[in-house]
Amino acid sequence: MVIKKVAVIGAGVMGAGIAAHIANAGIPVYLLDIVPTFRQDSGQSGDDKRNSIAELAVAKLLKAEPAAFMHKNYARLVTPGNIEDHLEWLKDADWVIEAVVENPAVKQALYQKLETICRPGALISSNTSTLPLKLLVRGMPDSFKQRFMITHFFNPPRYMRLLELVSSAETRPELVDAVRRFADIYLGKDSVACKDTPGFIANRIGIYWLQCGLLDAIELGLTVEQADAAMSVPFGIPKTGIFGLLDLVGIDLIPHILGSMKLALPDEDAFHQVNFLPERVQAMIAAGLTGRKGKGGFYRLHETDGKRVKEAVDLQTGEYRLSEKCVLPDLPKTQDELRAFLLSGDTIGRFAWQVLSKTLSYSAGLIPEIADDIVAVDTAMCLGYNWKFGPFELLDRLGADWFVERLLAENREVPPLLAACGDDYLYKVDAGQRMHVDLAGNYHPVSRPDGILLLADIKLRAPAVLANPSVSLWDIGDGVACLEFHSKMNTLDMDSLALLRQSVDKVKSEFSALIVHNDADNFSAGANLNLLVQAIHSGDWPAVAQLIKQGQQSYKALKYAPFPVVGAPSGLALGGGCEVLLHCDAIQAHAELYVGLVEAGVGLVPGWGGCKEYLRRWLEFTRRPGGAMPAIAQAFETIAMAKVSKSAAEAKEMLFLSTTDGITMNKDRLLADAKAKALLLAPGYAPPKAGVYQLPGPGAGAAMDIAVDNLKKAGKITDYDVEVSRQLADVLSGGLCDITEPLTEDDLLSLELNAFLYLVQQPGTLARL
Ligand code: NAI
Repeated sequence: MVIKKVAVIGAGVMGAGIAAHIANAGIPVYLLDIVPTFRQDSGQSGDDKRNSIAELAVAKLLKAEPAAFMHKNYARLVTPGNIEDHLEWLKDADWVIEAVVENPAVKQALYQKLETICRPGALISSNTSTLPLKLLVRGMPDSFKQRFMITHFFNPPRYMRLLELVSSAETRPELVDAVRRFADIYLGKDSVACKDTPGFIANRIGIYWLQCGLLDAIELGLTVEQADAAMSVPFGIPKTGIFGLLDLVGIDLIPHILGSMKLALPDEDAFHQVNFLPERVQAMIAAGLTGRKGKGGFYRLHETDGKRVKEAVDLQTGEYRLSEKCVLPDLPKTQDELRAFLLSGDTIGRFAWQVLSKTLSYSAGLIPEIADDIVAVDTAMCLGYNWKFGPFELLDRLGADWFVERLLAENREVPPLLAACGDDYLYKVDAGQRMHVDLAGNYHPVSRPDGILLLADIKLRAPAVLANPSVSLWDIGDGVACLEFHSKMNTLDMDSLALLRQSVDKVKSEFSALIVHNDADNFSAGANLNLLVQAIHSGDWPAVAQLIKQGQQSYKALKYAPFPVVGAPSGLALGGGCEVLLHCDAIQAHAELYVGLVEAGVGLVPGWGGCKEYLRRWLEFTRRPGGAMPAIAQAFETIAMAKVSKSAAEAKEMLFLSTTDGITMNKDRLLADAKAKALLLAPGYAPPKAGVYQLPGPGAGAAMDIAVDNLKKAGKITDYDVEVSRQLADVLSGGLCDITEPLTEDDLLSLELNAFLYLVQQPGTLARL
């Protein structure tokens, strides 16, 4: 089955978000909700407002932060309607997603209607987070059961990569495959097959972990800051930890979630030992302190003496007080450090051990009840709760045998999976292949769907071709090499530039194409500014000039290399990270790409060829009567205001990507898609011809002055920005050139260098840096 049209029923938080994300994939989607009731005395017939719930939902999506749509134009793909007038529309939907209130009776009444309206081949799924599939299909005909499953998205649907799938023995396998494939390629989701058990995988473990954290912090007398610091960064868990996450989810939801888990889970489940809502939390809910959406939660931003300050609840008294930062060691690098933290004997260490050991034991005990293997559980926790490591990966970081010894020393039960594993790892690498253990202690390959190529897997097979502390070059097969940045935040320094140059020589002699890619959260945060600041402090201007020239020459070498270069970025690609992409022949971008030339923000202009390349794109795009001014004005505004795209789709509109560049929704497919692109470009590849720029020079002065003044008047730039903007305007209009004399790329690079060197010597820039 091919999914070409989707309908979502229920335009609340989840339904609306899911509809937006389906539209992000370029797929038309109907979004239906109930017809609102109008009070008789309101004087409104309501005839013109019958779609208002879904219509308002779309309007809200357009204003959502973080953005729900990858581009505002995608909103046109969402057709709002209501379930009384528009159920007929569902006849041409291939997939109908139910996301109405969490009430089995309401859901089942809707299913009765869907069964008669939807065409026989269409799939129907529920987004329920707590109701079992067997309950939802009770009393429904076989024809319904065969086309029904649970597709559990996480909030917010655009950004959370996890999709939990629950099907029954009756569900037609081809429908499950169609959803999995569609979610993977079009929606960028990683689907995890779950059993039909309460909370599926991520919430089953996540809620247990949150409850352990909440109760143990109170019992041990920790502050919320201490508990959150202990139960986050040291284990690769987001900084929100326990209490910050509860604030985010909504504290008032806890009793509902606990209530439904209590009813659904068997008596012997360890959940029941932590199913308790402390009085302190009950009082907070009663007082409307429900978290970020309410008047505050465990934390709040509070205005005192005209200043907004962060406060935290004292768990003992319930009063708010100034929040006190609790700083613990960063993510421990070695096993010994991690163990030492858990064994430190102080209250924070005890808390961390109690919560972590209970959560890891609970997770290990749930195989095979909630999932067939440990990979599914780790994937669910990493993608559904943003953990850097899943529970079983954490067990390997600690050493499963050490963990078991500790449990035995405390007279605690050892889950069979850990007993079976003995003193071995839960994951290991065999002949370059990652393997995972099963309940019998046997190992199986961690499988990947077709078309997924991960740098992490390639690294297991062979050492890097070239490497230094900032960058490595990998052989990814079929004559293609991959240049990986791996410094902190993937910032670029002299090492990065040196290895880039060496890589160009290496690829020239041993490969046919190069991809610039890494699988970190962010492609690159730009040049390492610490180096620059050091040079500025010591007034070492030749060193600054050297850094700029080195970057310019390295990027130029990439552009004119005798092989195709494909950029494959995801996440942030800022400043120097954006400039490297501007020098690539083609880009295959992850849909979540936040790219921009942000140098003006620190009082600088792009100096590694960014002005030159970005201006060239606008010159080519606006090639028409009127000369270079329209292009200069566009490039100027984007760079002067340090604009950053909020998606790859926006990056295309801003010309950071060209019309022929590709967008990949699933980050795990990015490298494979980029490789396919590189292999297409390789046969008969010829490097681009050197660019020639016909620019107005000082003739542009008056127009650029007006542009700068307009930005200033509009309050978009400050006094010092005016100084920076004038330097930028000078570069983009060609400096002192004569309009009749074309400039070369090197001329523009000199202008960038001069403007950069001028600005770094200004106190305003140093202050910003
Ligand atoms: P919500 O309360 O924000 O929205 C529910 C929507 O359903 C409302 O707009 C309501 O008017 C509409 N509705 C009620 N009865 C209807 C009917 N018969 N036909 C059409 N529309 C109807 O709820 P939310 O949070 O969006 O949850 C929806 C589903 O998604 C629930 O099953 C929930 O368990 C699940 N879920 C919620 C998550 C969350 O973070 N909020 C996360 C994952 C799943």
